[in-house]
Amino acid sequence: MSMDDRIEELLAKLDLPGKLRLISGAGMFRLAGDPAIGLAEMPVSDGPSGVRGEHWDERDPSVSLPSGTAVAASWNPELLGEIGALIAHEARRKGVYAVLGPTINLHRSPLGGRHFECFSEDPVLTAEMASAYVEAVQAHGVSACPKHYVANDSETDRFTVDIQADDRTLHELYLYPFERSVRAGAWMIMDAYNSVNGVTMTENVLLDEPLKGSWGFDGVVVSDWTAVRSTAGAAKGTDLAMPGPPMLWGAPLEEAVRAGEVPESAIDEKVRRILRFAMRVGALDGEPAPAPDFSAEQARDLGRRAAAEGMVLVQNDGVLPLRPETTVALLGPNAALPRFMGGGSATVIPSRTATPVEGLEAVLPVTHTPGVRLAEQLIPVPLELVTDPETGTPGLSLRYLDGDTVIDSQHRTAGNLMLFGDKKAAEAGAIEVRARLRADVQGDWQIGVGTLGQARLELDGELVLDETITFEGTDPVGAILYPPQRSVTRTFAAGQEVDVRITVATPPAIPGLGVILGLTFGITRPQRSASEEFDAAVELARTSDVAVIVVGTAEQIESEGFDRTDLRLPGRQDELVAAVAAVNPRTIVVVNSGAPVELPWRDEVAAVLLSWFPGQEFGAALADVLTGATEPGGRLPTTWPKTLGDVPVRNTTPDSVGALPYSEGIHIGYRAWLKDAVAPAYPFGHGLGYTSWTLSDLTVSGRTATVTLTNTGDRAGKQVVQAYLSREQSAVDRPVRWLAGFAGVTVGPGESRTVSVELPQRAFEHWTDTGWATEPGEFTIHLGTSVTALPLTATIG
Ligand code: BGC
Repeated sequence: MSMDDRIEELLAKLDLPGKLRLISGAGMFRLAGDPAIGLAEMPVSDGPSGVRGEHWDERDPSVSLPSGTAVAASWNPELLGEIGALIAHEARRKGVYAVLGPTINLHRSPLGGRHFECFSEDPVLTAEMASAYVEAVQAHGVSACPKHYVANDSETDRFTVDIQADDRTLHELYLYPFERSVRAGAWMIMDAYNSVNGVTMTENVLLDEPLKGSWGFDGVVVSDWTAVRSTAGAAKGTDLAMPGPPMLWGAPLEEAVRAGEVPESAIDEKVRRILRFAMRVGALDGEPAPAPDFSAEQARDLGRRAAAEGMVLVQNDGVLPLRPETTVALLGPNAALPRFMGGGSATVIPSRTATPVEGLEAVLPVTHTPGVRLAEQLIPVPLELVTDPETGTPGLSLRYLDGDTVIDSQHRTAGNLMLFGDKKAAEAGAIEVRARLRADVQGDWQIGVGTLGQARLELDGELVLDETITFEGTDPVGAILYPPQRSVTRTFAAGQEVDVRITVATPPAIPGLGVILGLTFGITRPQRSASEEFDAAVELARTSDVAVIVVGTAEQIESEGFDRTDLRLPGRQDELVAAVAAVNPRTIVVVNSGAPVELPWRDEVAAVLLSWFPGQEFGAALADVLTGATEPGGRLPTTWPKTLGDVPVRNTTPDSVGALPYSEGIHIGYRAWLKDAVAPAYPFGHGLGYTSWTLSDLTVSGRTATVTLTNTGDRAGKQVVQAYLSREQSAVDRPVRWLAGFAGVTVGPGESRTVSVELPQRAFEHWTDTGWATEPGEFTIHLGTSVTALPLTATIG
């Protein structure tokens, strides 16, 4: 029987309530099943750079891979293929049928809070990465879910903002990565919270055309979580309302269908798509496909290679790679407390991490002091400092209390606990965390809690904090992930111990879903005064061969749920770099951010390496790159500005009626920089390795450009050959030039290689009122190694 016949057969067995059960989730991260038709429930999980699973729980850890900007910086679809296989492995291990990723919105303004998760400012690079990810994950029977369709390119007022963009801009830029994902066979696509041209995306006509119409998407359109806004909207293109259990699309929709307000045929169409999806992922009529094998060691190795391949060396006066025995002053707040990943739904909990301090200490003589501490924020209490009073082992006791009755008791191994749709907590009046804390050094310690609601903190039985904590932000994700913190200061002798007890009143449960609450048991260790710490770092730099400063953003400024308000590094980091560079000319700065930041001191330092959010193997990969064991393989997937003021497209704040006009049209990213003729700090496509290159002999045959690439240095290296098109005399507004294709190659020392770059027909087309069109006549092809380093040109008809 054909798949379509089988779907009709199953559909005929379902009555209206049975159908409606399938078009809403069964839980926070679970699609409904139906035993009567042999349909299993289907857990799904956030991605894209790791698979958290259905629960947010350190007892079920996940491999943490580099974030979107980092992997896109590799310009290497084959690497995405390997990553996709590991993602499929992780999904299967966790019983997950769909991974909610990749995130393929564009870097329209560098202020966009979620850019770390997206790939690039360029639609072609984004599309290449997206297709490779989708194909690789789905090759193993796990669904990918490219998101968020469409124009969710910033976070300010993300639930309501109305993006106003013309058709050409949508088709040439923001829709293109989705179009390519559909062509790559995506089985599920997530629609966005925002509106486009006046209509919320879960009900927008763009779901019909082009998505389900001319692109022929036959998979499931899932709503972003809580993005379904009405029952009437069920007549439109969203197929599945998440999360569950059913809300608007439960009883209210049944009533609307029975009243003839929403046609049952619209529901049938959604169910057909969900059944087709279930067959594809092995939840109906069969088993899920076997997952690829990955040992823990292989997963770590891939994470390490991927992180190094995404690191972009934007400048280097020859200080890198470091020679063995070089003494290193390792400074900066992110050296010991790095950001492995971005904040928000992309968060996973790895079982191990390698910090830059750990990574570099393993290969070089390193002395570390941060110089600058990023915030007053408490850090989740490190495991080695706490003992669970119940088990006597490292960790905490978490109990769910109903008065004096203990409903549940768990041994936990993280200072940061996330109750995410917790049904057991819904039965409890309070959540309690207990641990015996051991001060490992003498001095003033801060001990506290991060949460919302009525919270109490007791130390050795004495009540020291009792407060109702309220959230001041606007985005609910922020309320859960970054709740406000409260703390007290206590002076301890080294080795002194104290019993800590935190009690939080359980917030009201969301019906059917359970409790959602973030709870942190946090501390800060005794610290030198800020000026002593700063001076000590500068002094250490003065007396070391080199200084490596790991600077970066903090979770509170770069995350899902909000945009940035400036591009500055937080705290005194800029001051620290300038002071260190003044005493040590061999200063290397590693930038640990997911998106551009201003680097005002960049002309004063010897080297700048962008690490992005590189995943759990950060430290190991960084050591590889700094010592030259591995070449930094990255090229910029997004333009890196000198200052925010220079950035051509900045605004992410809707106007007084909630609209955000994309008035720059097709000119975002490097296209806008070229149009304005402003030089950024580092252009799109730029990145250095440890060897040198020449490019020669460009020839064009049909839609293929061929060039000779010679490695003129004395070690092997990777180069990314980039092809851009331009059209000097054009009847339509065009970018000065635009990326058409690229090819990454590794070439041995002294060797030459012939490199071919395919130029797809679409690169020559532009969107018109009647669809895609190609202007007759010649285009110019520019070939080189960044959008502004293009030594070779030819004409192409
Ligand atoms: C995010 C999605 C995510 C979903 C589930 C939403 O807030 O925008 O990207 O997949 O939550 O966690």
